[in-house]
Amino acid sequence: MNGNGELTQALEEQAQAWDARPLLRRLYGAWFERAAAELSQVEGPTIELGSGIGTFKEAYPFIVATDVEPTRWSDAVVDATRLPYEDGSVANLVLVDVFHHLGRPVAFLDEARRVLRAGGRVIIVDPYCSPLSTLAYTRLHHERTDLSAPAFDDDRTVEADPMSSNQARATLVFFRGKAEFDRRWPEFRVARRERFAFLAYPLSGGFSRRPLLPNALYPAIAVIERLLQPLEPALAFRCLVVLERS
Ligand SMILES: C[S@@+](CC[C@H](N)C(=O)[O-])C[C@H]1O[C@@H](n2cnc3c(N)ncnc32)[C@H](O)[C@@H]1O
Repeated sequence: MNGNGELTQALEEQAQAWDARPLLRRLYGAWFERAAAELSQVEGPTIELGSGIGTFKEAYPFIVATDVEPTRWSDAVVDATRLPYEDGSVANLVLVDVFHHLGRPVAFLDEARRVLRAGGRVIIVDPYCSPLSTLAYTRLHHERTDLSAPAFDDDRTVEADPMSSNQARATLVFFRGKAEFDRRWPEFRVARRERFAFLAYPLSGGFSRRPLLPNALYPAIAVIERLLQPLEPALAFRCLVVLERS
């Protein structure tokens, strides 16, 4: 997928799914709250990268919504791997479902280290590859999930297209590659690294599959999920990663 027309079309389809699926809105709403609770209070703007259909900004209007191409939901065009901000000027960089779309994650992390103020944060919500979710992602989901890819290498196929991805990227960089991450970016402390979402989210069908869980059953499923929390490393479909700049 290349060019703004195709990104716009993909995002318009996401916007339709968002409007039609109350459970999806509820799940993302909870993830947005989780992400927002981690925002640094240091001085400076909070920039959302890859804002897509603008749902995070809808919930938190004070942020600056940006995307790699012009969209009707974003305030500015910003490529996450070439940030147009001064050194040490930004309070937060928020990426919801964006990190796995970056073909040059090392360039992004270098740029994040450059532009963040001391105490500033990168907040990432992304797919996580547990044994269960890897099975589901590889068998049932249209996006690529390649756990054998080198964690820190550029990926040309992903770079060529804003909606192309490797869903395994956050797992590779922040979980399996944590020691290498710490070695490359000692200025970042991993302030939080959580795995979650293994019942309601897959049953919701996400943006693209048929929902299997009626919205009314969500509270019961949420209780079961909480009880099974110790099993998250084996089951989780999502992760939250918070990096704090020293
Ligand atoms: C799956 S969508 C997620 C959109 C939104 N954050 C959400 O949660 O609905 C991925 C987004 O990442 C953006 N993206 C891809 N490559 C990017 C890059 N290099 N810099 C900034 N955004 C990028 C895409 O344009 C798209 O809006």
